[in-house]
Amino acid sequence: MNEDSKPKSISRRRFLQGVGTGVIGGAVLPGALSGEKKKKQESPPHPGKELLTLNVNGKHVRAMIEPRTTLAELLRDHLELTGTKIVCNHGECGGCTVLLDGKAVYSCHMLALDAAGKNVVTIEGLLIGEELHPIQQAFIDHDGLQCGFCTPGQIMAAKALLLKHPKPSPRQVKEGMSGNLCRCAAYPNIIKSVMAAAENV
Ligand code: FES
Ligand code: FES
Repeated sequence: MNEDSKPKSISRRRFLQGVGTGVIGGAVLPGALSGEKKKKQESPPHPGKELLTLNVNGKHVRAMIEPRTTLAELLRDHLELTGTKIVCNHGECGGCTVLLDGKAVYSCHMLALDAAGKNVVTIEGLLIGEELHPIQQAFIDHDGLQCGFCTPGQIMAAKALLLKHPKPSPRQVKEGMSGNLCRCAAYPNIIKSVMAAAENV
């Protein structure tokens, strides 16, 4: 047998690459890939990451993220919007509340990719230029906070509540804020703050 007629040897690595490609995209032998496609497969620009586009506080945002990234992690770690707090990180306390298309969500409890194409508003997005939003001012005026750690989430929950019920009853305020815990138990003043804010938004 001359050299040309010998079967070409295939390395274990290339064999496995071929198997992987077959499982994901059909039976394509390594040799059938064009040089350019092969190069892309070997060195993807952002391995394991996906492109996410969404609107945050009125700005168009694009980010390459791992699919497991939560919305809270995207906001804090990728966009440096650290006003959103991660407290329990289990969808139980409401500390991480933000608005998603106008509704309150626990940002620690949803994947950032699920917010693709949507509008997110964080506590930073409530500011009107350098001015505090009326809900933020009401929390200051009515002592709606003690340590303040739950406050961004409380204020975002209040914003969602007032979007739904611009003139809420005390009962509606209690119900609307019931998903947000406060370890300082500042509840009476939180309710007062939201009722007062309803007069000014
Ligand atoms: S930090 Fe998200 S619900 Fe507690
Ligand atoms: S003000 Fe301290 S946890 Fe609510």
